[in-house]
Amino acid sequence: MNRMWIALIAVLALIIIPWVGVGAAGLTLLFGVGIPYIACLIFFVGFIYRIVSWAQSPVPFHIPTICGQQKSLPWIKANNRESPHSYWGLFARMALEVLFFRSLLRNDRAELKQRQRLIYSSNRFLWAGGLLFHWSLIIVLFRHLRFFTEPVLPGIAFVQNLDALFHVGLPALYITDVAIIVGLSYLFLRRVIYPQMRLISLPSDYFVLLLIIAVVLSGVLMRHFFKIDAEKAKELALSIASFRPVIPTAIGLPFYIHLFLVSILAAYLPFSKLMHAPGVFFSPTRNLKNDSRARRHINPWSYPVKVHTYEEYEDEFREAMKEAGLPVEKE
Ligand code: HEM
Repeated sequence: MNRMWIALIAVLALIIIPWVGVGAAGLTLLFGVGIPYIACLIFFVGFIYRIVSWAQSPVPFHIPTICGQQKSLPWIKANNRESPHSYWGLFARMALEVLFFRSLLRNDRAELKQRQRLIYSSNRFLWAGGLLFHWSLIIVLFRHLRFFTEPVLPGIAFVQNLDALFHVGLPALYITDVAIIVGLSYLFLRRVIYPQMRLISLPSDYFVLLLIIAVVLSGVLMRHFFKIDAEKAKELALSIASFRPVIPTAIGLPFYIHLFLVSILAAYLPFSKLMHAPGVFFSPTRNLKNDSRARRHINPWSYPVKVHTYEEYEDEFREAMKEAGLPVEKE
């Protein structure tokens, strides 16, 4: 079966679980408190486990990937951004990568055109789609802090007002809600439309995208179409966050679907490719300075190797070398 369909069916099955569990069986305590707590536990233990195991992995070789002149002689112009030799250069390169996905700007497309000639061209769509999605997600999550804090943290109302700047609809449509849907749609469709992307995409690639799309759509739908009791949702969120869970009263089925999908996402995250977010900080190709001309990096795994020097060789074979007419250094 097509890999995308496997992922789609899995996500649809996940939507049906709370639908039946809350809508038909009325298991609000399980879906409102039990499952979110279990998911948080799996998330924190799994996340910390992955981070600790990465932090403990040896990095025996000095392997930053660079594309600029390394610092060497004073009259050769060094490029501290592309080939950082100082901590400031490293920090700047890392910040540009993490905040603006700078290396994705160099994304190329290779296509067979004009009588089978391979043509390379720049492709900025992945960069734009990725940036749109990640930045919108950060803002959506930041706005969500209003459900977990009372009084609401300063700055949240400001961001919320800015995000609803155009005052379209009631409740107002957030710019980031539109942006995140556009970004996610592009990221998903490129894996469906381009044959090369279809070939390399696994069910897990589609699954994470579809799961995040389902979380976002369920959130948007319950804000604008299938109304929920947001006050009660906040009561529940606050009670969970303060470890004094209350038995949730009628909040609305869409909320439980949203919360269940978020719980699955949280529990799955430490075992998925979504760990690229903290992983980038542990990547030795990114987090090392390129100072191998200024400093000798010794592999800590190197052990003293027994060598046979030329002097020793000559001492051993001097007479035979002389007999054969070969030149020797010492008579
Ligand atoms: C990965 C995590 C999550 C994502 C990506 C997400 C996404 C969204 C989105 C896009 C919306 C539409 C409205 C808006 O942008 O504010 C929304 C609404 C909502 N979300 Fe989430 N959400 C997440 C986690 C949670 C959690 C943990 C809760 C638990 C309280 C929650 C509760 C709500 C509620 C109550 C609304 C309706 C807001 C309203 O009516 O104004 N969300 N969510």
